Amino acid sequence: AVDAEGTPLPAATLDAAKRARAVLLGAVGAPRYDGLERARRPESGLLALRRSLGLYANLRPAAPMPGQEDASSLRPQALAGTDLLIVRELTGGLYFGEPRGLDAGPPRRAVNTMVYDEREIARIARVAFAAARTRRRRLCSVDKANVLEVSQLWREVVAEVGADYPDVELQHMYVDNAAMQLVARPTQFDVLVTGNLFGDILSDIAAQLVGSIGLLPSASLDADGRGLYEPVHGSAPELAGSGRANPLAMIRSAAMMLRHSLGEPEAAARVDAAVLRVLQDGVRTDDLAPGRGVSCAQMGDAVCAALAAGAP
Ligand code: IPM
Ligand code: MG
Repeated sequence: AVDAEGTPLPAATLDAAKRARAVLLGAVGAPRYDGLERARRPESGLLALRRSLGLYANLRPAAPMPGQEDASSLRPQALAGTDLLIVRELTGGLYFGEPRGLDAGPPRRAVNTMVYDEREIARIARVAFAAARTRRRRLCSVDKANVLEVSQLWREVVAEVGADYPDVELQHMYVDNAAMQLVARPTQFDVLVTGNLFGDILSDIAAQLVGSIGLLPSASLDADGRGLYEPVHGSAPELAGSGRANPLAMIRSAAMMLRHSLGEPEAAARVDAAVLRVLQDGVRTDDLAPGRGVSCAQMGDAVCAALAAGAP
């Protein structure tokens, strides 16, 4: 769209996305756009899409996959049993707060605003508590309440919402400590809930627990279960055209789409099982087996074959 129309999110694209129950999104961004003014960069289109569709709840699961225990830079003993879900607030916080801007100065000066109101915090907290209920019933809320007022409010409101979920154990953690704990002892976490910027950073750390960001799917949901589904990874411009990218994060994002927006949990489970099957069978792309991997298309074919064979 940037090349064709000079804008990353043309009105017709936004309309189509609004009419759809779900959007499956390929990663955006390329070095040749880095020099463009902010509004015309591909990332701005993604942020506008999230915001215009009201997709405030970003779910980023991270659990090592079978046979991937060695792919992480962390020791396998530290990783064994890791299975966590980051619930990231996606339409507020520092990413969208006003005022924002760059003053030409002199002196040059720039400002962004981290702002949340209690309704935004409460609704993402509810998503996280509800998710914890379907898992191991532990929720860790991540903030910087020792320094930031916005985090003080975050902590208060999450605790208030927690009163409605007495069966979920709630813990609060400062974001710097959470970053350390994620790599020190990732098994302590079940669900984490946090604001937009902290969630952006922590979810990249969590990706490394899995070994390759090429495996990680994500869902971004509105209040009615409409959603946008995308791999956590970026566009990997260095791989473009090489046929070497790992398609599993995108395939698993499609599985999340079937589950969360399209009411097809069985189909979702079949796709997930097919992905597990090919990994168990040792099929690897280059990110998982440097220099020895199969191509993107071969990985896709392997998943299709496992699906057809009715994995597992
Ligand atoms: C992500 C990405 C985006 C974000 C970028 C591409 C705008 O890093 O989805 O985590 O910061 O949210
Ligand atoms: Mg990110």
